[in-house]
Amino acid sequence: MIPPVLPTYNRAPLAFVKGEGSWLTAEDGRRYLDLGSGIAVNALGHAHPALVQTLTDQAQKLWHVSNVYTIPEQERLAQLLTGNSFADTVFFTNSGTEAAELAIKMARKFHHDAGHPERTGIVAFEGAFHGRSTGAIAAAGSEKMVKGFGPLMPGFVHLKWGDSEGARAAITNDTCAVIIEPIQGEGGIRVVPDAELKLLRELCDETGTLLIFDEVQCGMGRTGRLFAHEWAGVTPDIMMVAKGIGGGFPLGAVLATERAASGMTAGTHGSTYGGNPLGCAVGARVVELIADPAFLAEVARKGALMRQGLESLVARHPAVFDSVRGEGLMLGLKCKPAPADVVKAGYEAGVLTVAAADNVLRLLPALNIPDADIAEALARLDQAAVRLETAQ
Ligand SMILES: Cc1ncc(COP(=O)(O)O)c(C=O)c1O
Repeated sequence: MIPPVLPTYNRAPLAFVKGEGSWLTAEDGRRYLDLGSGIAVNALGHAHPALVQTLTDQAQKLWHVSNVYTIPEQERLAQLLTGNSFADTVFFTNSGTEAAELAIKMARKFHHDAGHPERTGIVAFEGAFHGRSTGAIAAAGSEKMVKGFGPLMPGFVHLKWGDSEGARAAITNDTCAVIIEPIQGEGGIRVVPDAELKLLRELCDETGTLLIFDEVQCGMGRTGRLFAHEWAGVTPDIMMVAKGIGGGFPLGAVLATERAASGMTAGTHGSTYGGNPLGCAVGARVVELIADPAFLAEVARKGALMRQGLESLVARHPAVFDSVRGEGLMLGLKCKPAPADVVKAGYEAGVLTVAAADNVLRLLPALNIPDADIAEALARLDQAAVRLETAQ
């Protein structure tokens, strides 16, 4: 018999009742060190006092009004984002998937209004993840995600990850856009080299193609910069963010230059909940805290500290771990056994991690994780590795 909750997830038999900082407490009272953060969502940890305060203050004033009215909290968050990025304008969504849909619509509308309605083709990359709508699965194109859901939104061309030659051939004067995650999350913490991002920018500039960065997972301070692309010194025309921007409140956004957004006039897009006062009040507090250069420098320092510890885990447990990858606090451990087995051993050791493709275990702790919790996390990962070694 089908359960009351549609069984689309492979759930662990763990249910949590409370969160505080980097720690989660399960129903049985056991505490777990959370290195998953709801898959890069709880950027400031669980129940951050400033976010609890902002949420409760706003909840007592106003939760929701329609986008037919001006929403001051939305305008404030948009100003914070444009003031701290390449973007001139922002549209708010409830999720990364919705941001992907708008990014695609915006790019196509730009060329349509520029007199080139035939420029609809979008270049995407193997291993990508942009969400679960029919448009977003077409963009990612993997067999696993699209099988059984056709016909898909047409117009996507898929290149192998890191295929510069393929990019040179595929990006032409007829291309609408290129969509890429500067660091693939679900794909296995694959960091696109700076030179590759620069090449894509150049090819887009030469051909009038729009460059879309999907920073849903790698953005919002995760790499030690507010946005991951800042490391490469190039900017996109359109960018999707979500996850960390709400710190746990469902919130996403599309950021764009004035030029790229020029087709999105009144009536061309909308959302009932996107950008509601409650979400935007929380989002603004999150951005204020994360965009602080001192905070970002700490993320980079903590990332280096954690990476160093992970490198020595790899050295101590060569039968379990192969190598470390990532940037800042978006880290991956390439595993020898299936990462799902390492995740399970982690549960037993009281540490929560997330599996990804390419046999990688993802570590996405709260950006403000205390150094003592990093040390504890490494000790627990060590215990998990020992469990796996003794079980072999
Ligand atoms: C890079 C990337 N893009 C888009 C999405 C989709 O976001 P959401 O699940 O909020 O719809 C995700 C979610 O994991 C993601 O990692």
